[in-house]
Amino acid sequence: MYANRILSGMRPTGNLHLGHFHGVLKNWIKLQHEQECLFFVADWHALTTHYDNPEVIRNNVWEMVVDWLAAGVDPDLATLFIQSQVPEHAELHLLLSMFTPLGWLERVPTYKDQQEKLTEKDLSTYGFLGYPLLQSADILIYRASHVPVGEDQVPHIEFTREIARRFNHLYGREAGFEQKAEAAIKKMGSKKARLYEELRMRYQQDGDESAIEAAHALLNEQQSLSLGDRERLFGYLEGGGKVILAEPQALLTEASKMPGLDGQKMSKSYQNTITLRESADSLTKKIRTMPTDPARVRRTDPGTPEKCPVWALHQIYSDQAIRSWVQNGCVSAGIGCLECKQPVIDSMLKEQEPIRERARMYTENPSLVRNIIDDGCEKARLLACDTMRDVRSVMGLSYD
Ligand code: TRP
Ligand code: SF4
Repeated sequence: MYANRILSGMRPTGNLHLGHFHGVLKNWIKLQHEQECLFFVADWHALTTHYDNPEVIRNNVWEMVVDWLAAGVDPDLATLFIQSQVPEHAELHLLLSMFTPLGWLERVPTYKDQQEKLTEKDLSTYGFLGYPLLQSADILIYRASHVPVGEDQVPHIEFTREIARRFNHLYGREAGFEQKAEAAIKKMGSKKARLYEELRMRYQQDGDESAIEAAHALLNEQQSLSLGDRERLFGYLEGGGKVILAEPQALLTEASKMPGLDGQKMSKSYQNTITLRESADSLTKKIRTMPTDPARVRRTDPGTPEKCPVWALHQIYSDQAIRSWVQNGCVSAGIGCLECKQPVIDSMLKEQEPIRERARMYTENPSLVRNIIDDGCEKARLLACDTMRDVRSVMGLSYD
């Protein structure tokens, strides 16, 4: 069993490009080998801003899953699913909304930012205001320990931690908590129990964060503890009540350094992208026509690589030998720009070969993709239902 559970979501708003690949997707692909991973298509999130254009979502959900699979996200390692196919997210969102102060939502920085940026849309909606809370539900329902996100999303994770804390504070108190926690400690056996007590002491008396991490790892290894006892012991470490919803940590994904065709950051809104599944012809044409150092008007004019967006691509796609060939050839006008671009084209095509191969397999057999998502939704739903049972019960809603 893994000690950590990683969860991340992506909005289905268009074909993924090489910026996504070198930023988010490569990170997911690395993580899937190291930890338990859940990755989902945030289709409800897309509706918070595209409610007037459901076509966007309909067209992009499956395409995005194919992009993930083509990039190398492995359904045998990670669980892939679609948010709306696990409707418990909505139930948790509703229940959390009961005690979420409006001010907390209004203060989330993306709220005002996006409203100001997307002026062509009316975003004075209940759904848009509540979208960080929906994200909290996405995370908390899986008791995720880590959430890989970009910098812009870090406030949402912080918000989620506050929601979890408030939830545990409101609903985590039970009669006889201390006695139950002490009894649970004994169930671990005397050696582990002593270790737990020692770590708890170190944390509570000295504020030693490494002790709490070690204690979490210890608890995660205790297969024999019931879920309830485990929650008690998590809560007891910090002194409070039961931890029913775990506080997640942001796992900051470094901003993609992938330059676009014009030297700016690659982004759909700049129209400077190469998509993950760009055809070989179109890729070649895009690179061959991309701008170079404007000083090189004629083939005989020397240039400066640092002033050229092609050079930025060589940083990612070429080894040292090719890079010095470019440096020397450019400043001495020894090579032409088309010649200089060829190694970039070659490495990009090479990078895309396995991607294209996998994409072909999935586009030719859409039922493969459906089955992967069906399996993933089923797995995710079991985890979500488990949390919801506890949540309903402490909120007075269990009727069986
Ligand atoms: N809000 C995220 C974005 O716009 C997507 C998202 C939704 C998400 N739910 C999530 C990311 C849960 C991480 C965890 O990019
Ligand atoms: Fe850019 Fe290469 Fe042309 Fe120099 S030779 S300007 S680096 S494309």
